[in-house]
Amino acid sequence: MGYLLPSQRLPDLAAYLDAGGGTTLERCLEIGPEQVISEVRNARLRGRGGAGFPTGIKWQGLASAEGTRKFAVCNGAEGEPGTFKDRAIIRRNPYQVVEGLAAAAFAIGTQTAFIGVKEKFTEAIQRLETAAQELSAAGLLGDLEITIVRGPDDYLFGEEKGLLEVIEGNDPLPRLYPPYVQGLFEETGAGPHPALVNNVETLANIPHILERGADWFRAMGTTDSPGTMVCSFGGHTVADLVAEVELGTPLAALLDLAGGMRGGGRPRMILNGVSNPPLTSADLDVPVSFEGMRARGTALGSAGFTFLDDATCAVQVASSASAFLFRGSCGQCPSCKLGTTAITERFTALAIGGADTDDIEEIAAWTQRITDSNRCGLGAGQQALAAGVLERFTEDLAHHAAGGICDSEPFHVTTIADWDDSAGQFTYSRPVLEDAPGG
Ligand SMILES: Cc1cc2nc3c(=O)[nH]c(=O)nc-3n(C[C@H](O)[C@H](O)[C@H](O)COP(=O)(O)O)c2cc1C
Ligand code: SF4
Repeated sequence: MGYLLPSQRLPDLAAYLDAGGGTTLERCLEIGPEQVISEVRNARLRGRGGAGFPTGIKWQGLASAEGTRKFAVCNGAEGEPGTFKDRAIIRRNPYQVVEGLAAAAFAIGTQTAFIGVKEKFTEAIQRLETAAQELSAAGLLGDLEITIVRGPDDYLFGEEKGLLEVIEGNDPLPRLYPPYVQGLFEETGAGPHPALVNNVETLANIPHILERGADWFRAMGTTDSPGTMVCSFGGHTVADLVAEVELGTPLAALLDLAGGMRGGGRPRMILNGVSNPPLTSADLDVPVSFEGMRARGTALGSAGFTFLDDATCAVQVASSASAFLFRGSCGQCPSCKLGTTAITERFTALAIGGADTDDIEEIAAWTQRITDSNRCGLGAGQQALAAGVLERFTEDLAHHAAGGICDSEPFHVTTIADWDDSAGQFTYSRPVLEDAPGG
């Protein structure tokens, strides 16, 4: 099932029109911006970039915000380890993303839009460029101007304030104020220029909602998490997979879709990105939804699940995931940089057998103070990950604190570089462990 991820790539605009696409602008003009926002609000669509913020409310805020200029921005940076959903959506059907962006721009009252994509995502860039050109040439985007911005490999390029910095030609260092307060290309005395930032998958939902209505959308998923989610599953699963499921589907059913664990058995640790408390084998019944994950003390994030087998050492994985966050942290906020450094050092020392219970207490102490006065959510992500490992993998920690080490194959937490969908295989980017503190 699913409407976001067709089984085959749509080769061109003609195929998209044949599949019923291409009606978004017409529908927008027919009902007007207020009704567009009201339909998205009624659908109760929640952002698919990680935080699950209600999209209609965000659009409403931008539409009514003061601004001498406004901007609509699509976040296609996709840098969360274990996640490939946005690139899968763009590869299979970029038209719905571009039309969704056009509806967002229409709703907030702008004709200027940007799509931020990592420079190395060459296939996604090419698909988006072609889709935007074809839709525009067919008159299906009105006067909308779309610029595709090629960004760096940094994790912070995906953080919305870092993304806006890159669009302005700077490094992805998150600024102080959120996009609806400080948008793009502001100059002293020229008035505010707020920006709307939405994830690729969030925007891909919009043409379908406008075409088929909020009731259709809400009939799928759960009351608090309507619709579907495109999930990524990798690690020690039989297949690496990106698949669209209704929100509320149990995690165990997702594991079945990926063919189960290599060699059978149950996963020991399930990473949900790097910025959330990991799950354990006791959580396989958890509904994959915003509220379901929350009830288990974690979060849905961008639904990139890494299933790790029985031989996994949670301390080694925590050291690798923390190293990823340490490397991603830009250092503008002391508690984030100091915290990611200290936590990475201590998990790494535990993993290699040079630490004791004092180190566990130090990690616990950092999870209490790391979030203070941070510009973005990376520090809080480190806090959530470390606190989750401390709470859920006490046996592994005790083993290492007593001087034990593990001889299991280390699992390197890093981003997915590519997905060969016919072979069911991800390839991963270079791991970051070797130059991390303590590594
Ligand atoms: C460190 C960090 C990295 C992020 N990376 C991404 C990303 O790669 N893609 C994305 O859409 N959102 C990412 N986000 C979330 C964005 O800041 C933002 O909330 C999102 O793009 C909003 O879109 P949505 O409301 O449609 O979910 C990241 C957040 C943080 C703190
Ligand atoms: S919280 Fe961390 S990553 Fe985010 S701006 Fe501050 S130092 Fe940089």
